[in-house]
Amino acid sequence: MSEVLDSLAAHGVVPVVAVDSAAQAAALAGALAEGGLPVAEITFRTPAAEAAIAAVAGRGDVLVGAGTVVTPAQVDAAAAAGARFVVSPGTSRAVVERCREHGLPVLPGAVTATEIQAALELGLDTVKFFPAEASGGVAAIKALSAPFPGVSFVPTGGVGPGNLADYLGLDSVRAVGGSWMVPAAAISAGDWTGIRDLAGDAVRRVAG
Ligand code: 3PG
Repeated sequence: MSEVLDSLAAHGVVPVVAVDSAAQAAALAGALAEGGLPVAEITFRTPAAEAAIAAVAGRGDVLVGAGTVVTPAQVDAAAAAGARFVVSPGTSRAVVERCREHGLPVLPGAVTATEIQAALELGLDTVKFFPAEASGGVAAIKALSAPFPGVSFVPTGGVGPGNLADYLGLDSVRAVGGSWMVPAAAISAGDWTGIRDLAGDAVRRVAG
């Protein structure tokens, strides 16, 4: 794994964020850092993604990545904005190759044996298991780890305070992703102390 993926694994949780502005992103990143979770995957689900990544990268105290990256052009935008890693909902050769050109670690989505083999063929050994709960959750990851002992997973989608420990208890799971500590309502209300506290709670749960 790359140094950046090692760092994600050390934090254990990757907040998956959608914001409407760069200012929101900067404030949100501050709240995550104060809560002890200085990591943010900012998704290309809003037009603000590129500016938001740049704003968080500019702070220098939060490990920022780009999420929901589905095209090589978005990889270029993420790299230009200062993203340190890329997350994709599925496995795309074009996206993975563009990430490699930029020297960016990439976590492509894979939940079936075929998709995992495709990621392996692209030279990857860590995938986003998405959508985790809807794809069989812990039981599915356990079953897939038998034929793919060298593969690590970052389950995301339906992961939260109630099941995070079950996922992190698996040897093959390096970290989980989720949006529960960065709820859309709290972001739009500017409830940064609420987000700080949710991040702090996530950190305590990872520590067990
Ligand atoms: C993602 O894109 O990774 C998911 O939307 C996050 O899933 P969650 O909202 O269920 O945590």
